[in-house]
Amino acid sequence: MSTLQNTKRAYLITGAANRIGRTLALNLAHQASVVVIHYRSSQSAAEELAKEIRDNGTTTFTIAANLESPAEAQNLLKRVWDIAGPIDVLINNASIFETGRLTEISMDDIQRNMMTNAFAPFLLSRSFARLNKDRASAVLPVIINFLDSRITGYDRQHVAYHLAKRALFALTKMMALEFAPNVRANAIAPGLILPPAGKDRAYLEQLKSANPLNSIGSADQITTAVRFLIDNEFVTGQVIYVDGGRHLIGNTYG
Ligand SMILES: NC(=O)c1ccc[n+]([C@@H]2O[C@H](COP(=O)([O-])OP(=O)(O)OC[C@H]3O[C@@H](n4cnc5c(N)ncnc54)[C@H](OP(=O)(O)O)[C@@H]3O)[C@@H](O)[C@H]2O)c1
Repeated sequence: MSTLQNTKRAYLITGAANRIGRTLALNLAHQASVVVIHYRSSQSAAEELAKEIRDNGTTTFTIAANLESPAEAQNLLKRVWDIAGPIDVLINNASIFETGRLTEISMDDIQRNMMTNAFAPFLLSRSFARLNKDRASAVLPVIINFLDSRITGYDRQHVAYHLAKRALFALTKMMALEFAPNVRANAIAPGLILPPAGKDRAYLEQLKSANPLNSIGSADQITTAVRFLIDNEFVTGQVIYVDGGRHLIGNTYG
């Protein structure tokens, strides 16, 4: 194992109280100096997670912000810095997943999805890059944005979401160029990992044949990919598709 892999980093994970964000927080906490758990409405789940991580010996904070608000997104990093100190890894995991076809979505739908899923990660990332600019750090700070493996195709049933994830894909590359050499920016594009709200495992089972590997992924497999992007300091502007190969097909979905 290299020295960098042993280095403890400070993390901010957005939308970390449940699901993929929660697994990331628990897994990454093992090699963290501090983990900041951001949430919007899941306060008790966030506090429970913080307690679990703290009980295992890692310093943890929780912080609330509604990322649909540009002002709250703009201020979040400064608030985090004030309570937890400098952050080395920003994971833009928080997201909304709304149904709506091109022929029916409203401007409000588009704005809400663009703000939460693309512009908030952008504002957080820009604050992160500014705060890290002149900081002496043992590690190269890194941003990890969460996309969706369907960005290579067309998700007709979730158009506002799809548009926002595509925007974040473009922003990831721009950020990698603009924030270098002080900060790296990469992305994870998950495929079938967890069923969306209101659906169960059977929903994923039905869809898995769309993956060349004919399987469903796990939040632990997402962590492995995130870990690689954190540890390898020669990688920036990269997207790792953790999706059983679904992005290779680039289908129209729905
Ligand atoms: N699950 C999958 O299989 C899958 C597939 C493709 C892509 N992804 C991507 O992977 C990431 C994690 O997926 P997931 O399914 O675990 O996410 P999720 O459960 O849909 O959302 C994660 C968290 O985002 C937070 N959030 C939503 N709106 C917010 C707002 N306005 N302000 C602040 N926080 C807000 C929520 O926090 P609160 O609960 O505190 O309100 C929520 O718990 C997402 O970016 C998602 O798009 C997931």
